[in-house]
Amino acid sequence: MVAEWIFANGKSVGEIREDFPILQTKLTLVDHDDPIDLVYLDTAATAQKPLKVIQAEARYYREQNANIHRALHTLGETATALYEGSRDKVQAFINAEHRHEIIFTRNTTESINLVASSFGRSFGPEDEILLTEMEHHSNLVPWQLLSEQTGCKLKFIPISPGGELELEKLDELLTNKTALVGVVHISNIFGTVNDIEQIISKAHSMDIPVLIDGAQSSPHMAIDVQQLDCDFFAFSSHKLYGPMGIGILYGKEKLLEKMPPYMGGGDMIRSVKLTGSTWNDLPWKFEAGTPNVGGVAGFGAAIDYIKELSFDSICEYENMLTEYARKSLSGIKNIKIYGPSGHRAGVFSFTHNDLHPHDMAQFLDRYGIAVRAGHHCAQPAMRKLKVSSMARASLAFYNTRSEIDFLVEKIIAAGEYFNNGI
Ligand code: ALA
Repeated sequence: MVAEWIFANGKSVGEIREDFPILQTKLTLVDHDDPIDLVYLDTAATAQKPLKVIQAEARYYREQNANIHRALHTLGETATALYEGSRDKVQAFINAEHRHEIIFTRNTTESINLVASSFGRSFGPEDEILLTEMEHHSNLVPWQLLSEQTGCKLKFIPISPGGELELEKLDELLTNKTALVGVVHISNIFGTVNDIEQIISKAHSMDIPVLIDGAQSSPHMAIDVQQLDCDFFAFSSHKLYGPMGIGILYGKEKLLEKMPPYMGGGDMIRSVKLTGSTWNDLPWKFEAGTPNVGGVAGFGAAIDYIKELSFDSICEYENMLTEYARKSLSGIKNIKIYGPSGHRAGVFSFTHNDLHPHDMAQFLDRYGIAVRAGHHCAQPAMRKLKVSSMARASLAFYNTRSEIDFLVEKIIAAGEYFNNGI
């Protein structure tokens, strides 16, 4: 019984929900008299934040705010220790071998742009980058820009109508020209959990480095970059219950050492003359300018929160909820759910035969249900499936079966409402 589910920190789902202030607030709709409960089913876009994260960021600005790495005063040292302490937490969180393999950026998108601009700078017309047709625009457009600059070619692992990678094509797509493979770990539209272990192993057998877009996987499963043996792993704090504006790039030391800086400015230098400069050590070589210290402090608190819950109990609960949602949504007439039935995450994109996804999302919003609708920043995958837009409900450990029941009830009601209106 979900109602009796207890997480590793001894809390029930109801108690977990109390950790998230936004889940306690009421929504005031424009023409509704009474405020209504929020049913937040848009965690794939951004996760809600526990109070501890909000407090950590607020505490930084109330008590610890100073610039880092520069000041000799106590406050500056406190802020530096906080920032670098969060780096240690991230290192342990993804089991990186070295703390200097963790680079703070603004988001997953910037982490991938860093790799494209820096690692990709030496690519030329002879080089190929192998991506997949299900990439978020953030793991596609940076490579398109690089291709325009360097002449390198982009190739793609195709997707099946069921939203899975056609990995049987991998052997012919990987060639001695492939300079990098970039693949999304969990699709933000299909929820597909890609077999990145197989992709990494095949690429490495040909000495090809692999970048993983972990934006959707890192919040829902334990990541061990040494076990995966990926060369780069990009993810975001805001999808992991931390503040917005913080991204993380993990890169293997031997690759990061060889890569030129991505941005120039303060903190990333060792010495500057008018005629040229030399670079700081890793990781600071890639962290030009004053960073978002308060956000990084908040992200450290998010990691503490997740560790307390434990990924074992998060995964067990979310898998159960995902299967419940899959079965419940599959029972609704006139909707099509995208993505595989097994080995999937709690991301459910769907279309309704009788109404546009935007109408669906707006109808659900009348009942406080927040879902995303649109192309989900994955237009090529949509085009391949001949769909211009989908509605998407995405889950987290703070969601409940009764919220899914409510979603199902209102999807059915939306179909009836629009049919009666015609
Ligand atoms: N990448 C986020 C999503 O899929 C914004 O909604």
